[in-house]
Amino acid sequence: MKFFLDTANVNEIKRINDLGLVDGVTTNPSLINKEGRDFKEVISEITELIDGPVSAEVTSYDYEGMVEQARDLSKWANNVVVKIPMTEDGLKAIHTLSKEGIKTNCTLIFSVSQGIMAMKAGATFISPFMGRVDDMGEDGARLIAELRDVIDIYGYESEIIAASIRHINHLEKAALAGAHIATIPGSLFEKLWTHPLTTAGIEAFVKDWDAFESRNK
Ligand code: G3P
Repeated sequence: MKFFLDTANVNEIKRINDLGLVDGVTTNPSLINKEGRDFKEVISEITELIDGPVSAEVTSYDYEGMVEQARDLSKWANNVVVKIPMTEDGLKAIHTLSKEGIKTNCTLIFSVSQGIMAMKAGATFISPFMGRVDDMGEDGARLIAELRDVIDIYGYESEIIAASIRHINHLEKAALAGAHIATIPGSLFEKLWTHPLTTAGIEAFVKDWDAFESRNK
């Protein structure tokens, strides 16, 4: 399973990338807005840091605008993937861009039928939003599992990015449901490698070693 970082914070990306855990990055207009920095500058810095795919989202919502923006974004770096929302215009844009060899990530997917449409249109990645599906009282993990079944049955080449991951359980369920990738906020990432029993175990070892050393001085 691959891990992407769901953030536009360059320092966060540097820190976690140094652990060898980052296969790619996803951003969206809300994450870019949070950083309060120039869009192109942030994406360029991220694409230099990370070898894998870096999603940058269009901010136009009509077909012509999306395609024009996508062509521009794809020139910013070789590893830019253009994020396109799941709409009729979005599907048409994905179809056009896939014929031009521009990689796309179809975002804001909440149903199996939306996922199938994006795969058929030629999306490189599809992003079902687990957390927001759960917020609706539905089952985000089941959505991922069913999308994976569709891929396995029909041989679509799109990869599933489990998005809107809010806690460890989401990540574990996404892994078991067969998501190819999970995109994880930086704040959650460090919770994946920490455990209260590990912390308590280290504290006990430090205390006992101090006791051992003071006895043997
Ligand atoms: O990857 C999508 C993510 O940024 C949205 O997360 O928690 O706002 O649903 P959330």
